[in-house]
Amino acid sequence: MSTHQPIDLDGATRRTTVVDIRARKRCDGAQPVVCLTAYTVLTARLLDAHTDLLLVGDSLGMVLYGLDTTLGVTLEMMIAHGQAVMRGAKRSCVIVDMPFGSYQESPQVAFRNAARIMKEVGCAGVKLEGGVEMAETIRFLTDRGIPVLGHVGLMPQLVNTAGGFKTRGRSEADANRISADAAATAHAGAFAMVVEGVVEPLARRITQEVDIPTIGIGGSPACDGQILVTEDMAGLFTEFKPKFVKRYMNLGGDIAEAARQYAQEVRDGAFPGPEHCFGTLNAQKSRDADG
Ligand code: KIV
Repeated sequence: MSTHQPIDLDGATRRTTVVDIRARKRCDGAQPVVCLTAYTVLTARLLDAHTDLLLVGDSLGMVLYGLDTTLGVTLEMMIAHGQAVMRGAKRSCVIVDMPFGSYQESPQVAFRNAARIMKEVGCAGVKLEGGVEMAETIRFLTDRGIPVLGHVGLMPQLVNTAGGFKTRGRSEADANRISADAAATAHAGAFAMVVEGVVEPLARRITQEVDIPTIGIGGSPACDGQILVTEDMAGLFTEFKPKFVKRYMNLGGDIAEAARQYAQEVRDGAFPGPEHCFGTLNAQKSRDADG
């Protein structure tokens, strides 16, 4: 049976919960978890019928705001975009990223900021990057009612200490470290975890090792689900294209072409036409009467 359909409860469509996502380990026969990022109400409305989970990712700093990294993203930005996405998504499970600096200091600080996101956005949970070093924080949050989506492997918030956005898990030592991060995340109570930018055999291995769903991005088809940045898969963000991105359309090119045609028509006087103007007939009649 497809678990992709909205769940009907007494005739009402129920929003997918973190418990539903947690149950989607593929070895149990479940379909892959379909996830995309969403930052705005328009995108959320368009994606919601097709996704199980919408992530308000801090990638919005790079995609929407033109930042070089995600480090400049603030809690206020995440809350504002999270609220917009909640207005557009009626059935997907909505998760909001905790931005850099909002959770690393201590479990208590993480709780305060995560609780603020949950209260002000009304989302189902938060995502945070980190493995062994964040396990105590994940446990602190989940024990206090805040569902956590983990994130291991390539962690964009560590770009400075990692020396760039590099594929992870090529050496045995690195693979073992990331496998330990994944185990710590699962044991700490995360309901699922993003596995980003790791060599395929490692993503496959982690998926077998942990008992919660893995959501791959630059991971492996063996992961329990997949996520992409929507603007990447729609061909709107074209600054660069990581190997793991598949562009399903060329939205950036279509928008540029629409802008070219519009500019041409404005310059030629072809737009606006009478059908785009208010009161055109009346204006003509009164001119005729005056005439
Ligand atoms: O910020 C983000 O969009 C993410 C996804 C790429 C997983 O973390």
